[in-house]
This record gives sequence, structure tokens and C-alpha cells, in this order.
Amino acid sequence: MDAGPTTLRPRVVLGVCGGIAAYKAVEVCRRLVDAGVHVTPVLTDDAIRFVGEVTFSALASEPVQRSLWDESSPIPHTALGQGADLVVVVPATAHTIARYAAGLSDDLLTATLLATRAPVLVCPAMHTEMWEHPSVRDNLATLERRGVDIVPPESGRLAGGDSGEGRLADPGVIVDRVLERLGRAGRPDLLGARVVVSAGGTREALDPVRFITNRSSGKQGHAIAVAAARRGADVTLVTSSPLALPPDVATAVRRIDVESAADMEHAVGAAADGADVVVMAAAVADFRPKRPAGRKLSKEEGIPELVLEPTPDILAGLAARRPPGQLLVGFAAETPDALERGRRKLARKGVDLLVVNDVSAPGTGFDHDTNAVVILGADGSTTEVPLTSKDAVANAVLDRVIAHHNEKRSTT
Ligand code: PMT
Repeated sequence: MDAGPTTLRPRVVLGVCGGIAAYKAVEVCRRLVDAGVHVTPVLTDDAIRFVGEVTFSALASEPVQRSLWDESSPIPHTALGQGADLVVVVPATAHTIARYAAGLSDDLLTATLLATRAPVLVCPAMHTEMWEHPSVRDNLATLERRGVDIVPPESGRLAGGDSGEGRLADPGVIVDRVLERLGRAGRPDLLGARVVVSAGGTREALDPVRFITNRSSGKQGHAIAVAAARRGADVTLVTSSPLALPPDVATAVRRIDVESAADMEHAVGAAADGADVVVMAAAVADFRPKRPAGRKLSKEEGIPELVLEPTPDILAGLAARRPPGQLLVGFAAETPDALERGRRKLARKGVDLLVVNDVSAPGTGFDHDTNAVVILGADGSTTEVPLTSKDAVANAVLDRVIAHHNEKRSTT
């Protein structure tokens, strides 16, 4: 599976301690990497007695880190913890739990645990007698009180052949808990999807210095591109808006700046060829001057007669020639009777989803930071998103994209 843009992947430090269950941490590492997580393994000296460093280095996103005195970084003990979105310790031994609870930082793992402000998950594994010992219980209670999430061990067969509580939780349970704690922003549910988004109002030239345009700021389209990138998609943004992208996605999003409907048709058409999803949030001009002047018009020559011609309908063109499996999302900026007109537009444009905004409602549509939409599906579905931020609308649209994709897949 395509791992998605590295800079956007959630970063997890996987601490591994010296216990027989260390071999299961290899499985946790592999599954997290498969789920699009950037994993940095930190092994204690005792962990190395149980599993080879090479195994983790081969599966993880970067080589194993072991030492506080690693020459490649002058301050590895703070750098790792500060850069992490989450730290998980698999397995956590009684010894490491005690050192963490006591605030000791005598190796890279405990120093990372003390230097991080990210959520920490501790997955203990040890013999039943140790697991039940009051000192272990007290230390775990201390950690829990400080906000550390404990994934308790299971009952089952232990290393010595005996049975009891203390066996490391199933790797699947640990991975699910990590992904859950990372939250949706960190869950790359669009990982590997190729998404094309258009944004902004096109500018149609009257002459080299004047143009006809509309009130679209590009905020809604940019919000969709940013949300899709943060959810792991490979995003191409075709935009006529000057708005900057936030730094965390600026280099990951392929941005194509355009001006006119014709430019946008060309750029969206080329990008859409290999795309899984195309979202047309742009307010493309419906008409343009038929014969734009090649030089600046002068008022001494009198008021020019403005002859308009229709622009190409980009969305309808995409619908007519879309490759199998591609999902098309249109927007509809409507005033009165928004829903009724939206339903007709959905059928006319041949799209899978149409996001209808009544741009006459307060706080809705053009240039606001907020929007309120109804997402209509070609399958008859209706999803209402009451007035909220354009970021929230973007995520609601992407949720519908994923749901629609899954429904289509289950019926084919
Ligand atoms: O940019 P903001 O300030 O954040 O404002 C957001 C928005 C109001 C622009 C956005 O939410 C929105 O509604 N975008 C679509 C605006 C629009 O042009 O609607 P429409 O009903 O005219 O067009 C319907 C669909 O056809 C749209 O997906 C549009 O991109 C597409 N279209 C329209 C004309 C054309 N020539 N080619 C097209 O592809």
C-alpha cells in the first residue's frame, strides 16, 4: 500500500523493553506502518536480548534508536519525545514501569517518556506474580493518575509454560488503541487515494488588465484539499485563489495555480485522469467575454460592447469521460429553493455527490469562514451539515466520499 506523504503521517515512538513478549512488538510495528503511521522504534538494552535490532529497522519507518549518546542527534532524548504524536511501550516491563513512575531517565526510552507531551500508552507484560505485586500496581496507578493509558495484559499461557494474567494484550488490540488515540486527524483513512480538488472563482479576461470574476475566496476548496491531505490522500489542488496553504501540508499538496475556466478545465482534466476522487468546489465562471481585447481598452474609444459566450462545463465533461470507479463530487451554489435545484443539478451533472450550499443564508457560501451544506447522493441519500467551519464541512464531505466509495464497493 502507498504509505502517503511522510510529513503528514502521524509519528509514533514504539518503545520496546526486555521481555519475551518483545517479539510481538514486531507485529505491532508492522501493522502501524501498514496503517500509514511513521514508527520510530526505541529499544532498551534488554530488548535487544530478545529481538534483533535489524528486524525492527527493516520494518519500521526509520532505524532503531537505542542510546542517549547517539552521535546523529545531539539531543535525542528530547527530540524524539517532542516530535511524537504518541508514545507506546510494548511490552512494558515492571522495571521500566517503575523507572517511568519514579521519573528516572537513565536510558533513551525513559528520557523520551519524560520529554514528551504526547499521549502515552503502556502495554505491560510480565509473570502473574509480578503483575499482581503491589509495587507494580502502585506504579501503574501513579501513571494512570498522570494520564497514561494502560492497555492491560490478558490471561493466558505465559513464557514459563504456566498460565495466568500477565500476557501482553493482543497486537491487534494495541494497534487499534494507538490508532484510536491518534484521533481522526491522525487516522489516514484516505491513505493512497488520489484526490483532485478545484477551488476559487475563475477570472475571465476582458483585456490584459480587467476581468470578470465572482465572490469565491477559495476557502472551501482549500479546506477540502487540506483535510484530504491530512487524512493521507495524495492531493492535487487546482486553484484560482491566492490563499496560502498551512505549512504542514504546503509541500505535500501538488498545487496548480490557474486563472480562467479554460486554464482550470485543462489542469483539472489532466489531473483527473489518474484520480480516484475529483471534487469541484471552484466557482467556475459560466460566461466569459467572447473576444477579450489583446490590449488595454481605453475609454477614449468609447464603452466596449460586451459579448459573452459560455465557458466549458468542466464537471459535466469529467462525468462524461470518467474512468471506472472514479468518484465525482460537485458543489452547487444556490439561492432560493436550494435543495430542489440541487437535486435537479445532481442528475444533470451526472455526479455521485452534490454539495449544496444556500449562499443567501447568513454565514454560508462565498468568502465566509463558515458554511452550511446538504450533501445529496446519487443513491438518494441526504446528509445535512448545519452551519459550521469550512474545515468541518470539508471533513463531512470526505466522510461521505469514503462512505459512498465503500457502499459502491460492497454492491459491486
Ligand atoms: O470559495 P469560497 O469563498 O469558500 O466559497 C465556497 C463556494 C460557495 C464557492 C463553494 O461552496 C461552492 O458552492 N462552489 C461551487 C460554486 C458554483 O459554481 O456552483 P454552480 O452551481 O454554478 O456549479 C455547479 C458545479 O459545476 C460546481 O461544482 C462547479 O465547480 C461546476 N462547474 C460550473 C460551471 C462550469 N463552467 N464548470 C463547472 O465545472
